[in-house]
Amino acid sequence: MSIEKVLVVGMGMMGHGIAQTAAQAGLKTYVYDSEEIARDRGVERISEQILGRVKKGKLTEEEGQAIMARIIPVSSFQEAKEVDLVIEAVFENLDLKCEVFRALDQVMPAETIFASNTSALPISPMAAVTQRPDRFIGVHFHSPVVIMRLVEVIRGLRTSDETLAAVQEFLKKVEKSPVEVKKDSPGFITNRVYMPMFNEAVWTVYEGVATAEDVDKAMRDGFNFPMGPLQLGDFVGLDTMLHILEDLNEKCGGNKFIPCPLHRSLVASGYLGRKSGRGFYVYE
Ligand SMILES: NC(=O)c1ccc[n+]([C@@H]2O[C@H](COP(=O)([O-])OP(=O)(O)OC[C@H]3O[C@@H](n4cnc5c(N)ncnc54)[C@H](O)[C@@H]3O)[C@@H](O)[C@H]2O)c1
Repeated sequence: MSIEKVLVVGMGMMGHGIAQTAAQAGLKTYVYDSEEIARDRGVERISEQILGRVKKGKLTEEEGQAIMARIIPVSSFQEAKEVDLVIEAVFENLDLKCEVFRALDQVMPAETIFASNTSALPISPMAAVTQRPDRFIGVHFHSPVVIMRLVEVIRGLRTSDETLAAVQEFLKKVEKSPVEVKKDSPGFITNRVYMPMFNEAVWTVYEGVATAEDVDKAMRDGFNFPMGPLQLGDFVGLDTMLHILEDLNEKCGGNKFIPCPLHRSLVASGYLGRKSGRGFYVYE
């Protein structure tokens, strides 16, 4: 099955980036948000980005116009009934996502594939509320979507090989780099591997073994990481990092994900990283 038309549900930070990515790659892209103002703001953000690329000479004016013409705002799922793929990017709440998929399932043709852009929720319970668990999959885009190439593709318990193949093909078409997560398990690949490293880096600073600067420098200069783990944590937001760690700790147990008291103190003090001007580092 070839994916030519998509519907993005939820036009916030991730949704508008996913819509832009699809439209840039030549796909007809319907966009929906329960808040029309949020949908229109998302389209506006895409338009500003495209205009910026035209000004920089990366796109011609005609190319820019053609991309915007491929983005079709809709106020109901019915208006986008012909799509091959729906990508959901609403708030990270399992009940809300299930409600959205239940409603989509009533309207969309049986062949349409459903994908969730959840960053941490399990795929199979969402698939189970639809009549198409074999045509249901996770697609974890990374932020900022237009720039980051990685997409974790997560198989639910009943995802079919055909669905996986079609979605991987689609992701290549939109110039992303898909990796297959074979099991619907907490943290997928990226957070499962990165979060224990970040956590250990925080404990290393807390125990007075090294400064934050030296921990990051060691990882950059010793392993060729472009950014140290603490710098990256500041970039993501230390409140978000704490939330992910607590979630993984609850789901996985063991001691890999136990948040460090230093991390909790930073968050409680409003030192959330770059967005608040201070985290492990101070930002001007
Ligand atoms: N922010 C990130 O860095 C990041 C990275 C990867 C994945 N994700 C995941 O992507 C999803 C979206 O995150 P975001 O940061 O874009 O959130 P966001 O808050 O920026 O946007 C969510 C949008 O969903 C809309 N929405 C809420 N309920 C809806 C409904 N019932 N129907 C249609 N639209 C609805 C909201 O109006 C809002 O515009 C979440 O599951 C999140 O975990 C986020």
